[in-house]
Amino acid sequence: MSNPPAAYTGLQKHLHWAVVLLLLLQYLLFDGMGRPFHQLMDGAAAYSTTVFAHIVIGVAVLLLALWRLALRARHGAPAAPAGEPRLFAQVSKVAHGLLYVLLIGLPVIGLVAWFGKLGAAAEAHEFGTTVLMWLALLHVAAVVVHQFWWKTNLLRRMV
Ligand code: HEM
Ligand code: HEM
Repeated sequence: MSNPPAAYTGLQKHLHWAVVLLLLLQYLLFDGMGRPFHQLMDGAAAYSTTVFAHIVIGVAVLLLALWRLALRARHGAPAAPAGEPRLFAQVSKVAHGLLYVLLIGLPVIGLVAWFGKLGAAAEAHEFGTTVLMWLALLHVAAVVVHQFWWKTNLLRRMV
């Protein structure tokens, strides 16, 4: 983008934190999808509160991520902070792109696994959840480095 905005909009910030909250719920509360999925594959009834919650939260993440991308296309995102090493700025661009790919790809693959009863998709989904977790941890570590090492006060962009 030739002329990046000075800040994220309030809506962009709210959506960022809404997705973080939903992901925390998804990881901390409802990781018991393995057993119901195997019941489903064996032809048994597999729906429970956990399964419904997992699907509803997952689809919510998908819709919010698409909304964020639409906002980003219209409004853009602030440029990398001055003083950030160039390589780091490029890596963070790739990391943000990958985060979006996972926020959209994971629920889609999960839906394909569940409704298409596809074991390979379930395995890809599981693998993707691990990648997302590590990438999110790396993202938080990068914010910490910015905040306390380079002192760019990056966190203020999102609050
Ligand atoms: C961003 C959204 C999502 C996240 C972060 C997420 C996260 C997870 C996690 C952490 C697990 C447990 C993996 C493990 O046992 O190691 C799981 C399993 C599963 N999820 Fe999701 N999920 C999401 C969306 C969905 C959606 C929308 C569906 C659609 C039904 C879905 C279907 C499944 C299935 C079928 C499994 C069991 C896979 C297996 O054990 O082989 N997920 N998910
Ligand atoms: C599951 C967790 C998270 C995900 C998936 C996530 C995802 C993202 C994505 C995709 C962006 C880029 C936004 C854009 O430019 O359109 C972003 C930016 C940002 N996030 Fe997160 N985030 C997560 C957790 C956190 C946490 C816990 C913090 C605070 C410690 C945080 C702080 C920030 C900040 C400060 C930015 C702005 C970075 C910049 O403008 O260069 N995020 N996040």
